[in-house]
Amino acid sequence: MLGTGLIGMFYTMALHGQRSRDRVVNVYSRNSERAREFAQKWGADSWTSDMDEAIQNPDSDVVIVALPNFLHKEAILKTVKAGKAVLCTKPLAMNGKEAKEILEAVEKAGVFHGYLEDLVYTPKTLKSLAAVKDGALGRILWTRSREAHPGPHSDWFWDPKQSGGGAIIDMGCHCIEIGRNFIGKDVRPVEVMCWAETQVKPIEAEDHALGWIKYANGAISQFEVSWNYRGGMDLRDEVSGTEGSLRLDHFLRTGFEMYTSGNRDSYVAEKAETEEGWVFPVGDEVVALGYIDMFTDMFNAMENGEEPMETFYDGYVVNCIMDACYRSAKSKQWEPVSLDLWRGREAEEDQKQYNEYDERHYLIKEERLPDGRKKVILKHKESGEVSEKLIGS
Ligand SMILES: NC(=O)c1ccc[n+]([C@@H]2O[C@H](COP(=O)([O-])OP(=O)(O)OC[C@H]3O[C@@H](n4cnc5c(N)ncnc54)[C@H](O)[C@@H]3O)[C@@H](O)[C@H]2O)c1
Repeated sequence: MLGTGLIGMFYTMALHGQRSRDRVVNVYSRNSERAREFAQKWGADSWTSDMDEAIQNPDSDVVIVALPNFLHKEAILKTVKAGKAVLCTKPLAMNGKEAKEILEAVEKAGVFHGYLEDLVYTPKTLKSLAAVKDGALGRILWTRSREAHPGPHSDWFWDPKQSGGGAIIDMGCHCIEIGRNFIGKDVRPVEVMCWAETQVKPIEAEDHALGWIKYANGAISQFEVSWNYRGGMDLRDEVSGTEGSLRLDHFLRTGFEMYTSGNRDSYVAEKAETEEGWVFPVGDEVVALGYIDMFTDMFNAMENGEEPMETFYDGYVVNCIMDACYRSAKSKQWEPVSLDLWRGREAEEDQKQYNEYDERHYLIKEERLPDGRKKVILKHKESGEVSEKLIGS
């Protein structure tokens, strides 16, 4: 486990949770005291403040990169050299160019690689994806994903030289990949429009951004990310299709609410801003945020010689989409997504299918009125005339 910060801890909790047979055997932190404390707390066999030593440790067969964004490439390339499987947290890289170098290195070496995008693995998301795949929502037209909280917990996130950007690279990567999963990862992201501003914080990066990604099949994916949002961590998704829609709330409003006078110091949930009054705990964050299902998929895939649901190729596509977002925020124009490596479908069939009402008309819409009658709105196939008809008395 490279990194003993917030995500290193959540990953270790997921790996060591319940009766798991997967173990963190060796821990790297640049501070050896911190590495020792972490290893002892979580039952890892050894620790080190030397990254090379950690990667080459003969007891481990997988290296997990849980370090700040600017260190992902270095850590992954060292792991590739050691010939070990590598799992990397989000974002894969600082930008698309770096992500491509990483992808090419792992593929050339033939090492197993997994992109740790936990939010597509939450139990709610997995069930929603299965329903969407099964056609429950028809053709997907629109996805909307939001991650907003009062800002990250460590200095390096706030410095774009170390993080690669602001709220977009930190949280937009989650939202974008959630949208891709619902729309279809083989559908090409074509262009993006993005607004990004530094509204509140004294930093050289955006602390708030909204963006829209157009896909080759006509679907649109919207993301909303903010480091200025007050009241906790707001994680929500919506998906809308020709036959249905769904909404997911992963944090804050999950049906668990508690009132407390604040008579003790206690952890409520990640980025909760208050420990008194009405608070919104999360039953099991490690499960709710998808870490358990994510590692299960990663290790099952590894053992079965298959690809996990999220690979470094996905991380590369997400980085390229974010690059286009940064260009659009500057130019204030739709910007093309530049993907040197595209492995999905090239051309999209026209998926529009109008509902037939009768031989001469298409059905635009029908609705039951408060008086019990039904109204249908029709379009004449030849003249194009739009009309309405009341059914019932
Ligand atoms: N849901 C998620 O998937 C999720 C959530 C949080 C963070 N992350 C990602 O995990 C990575 C780490 O984030 P975090 O929240 O754990 O950060 P953190 O600041 O809590 O921990 C970072 C770790 O890296 C170490 N570190 C910092 N600077 C270093 C340096 N210059 N050299 C060597 N080690 C250094 C720190 O000591 C610490 O162990 C980031 O890429 C972040 O985007 C993912």
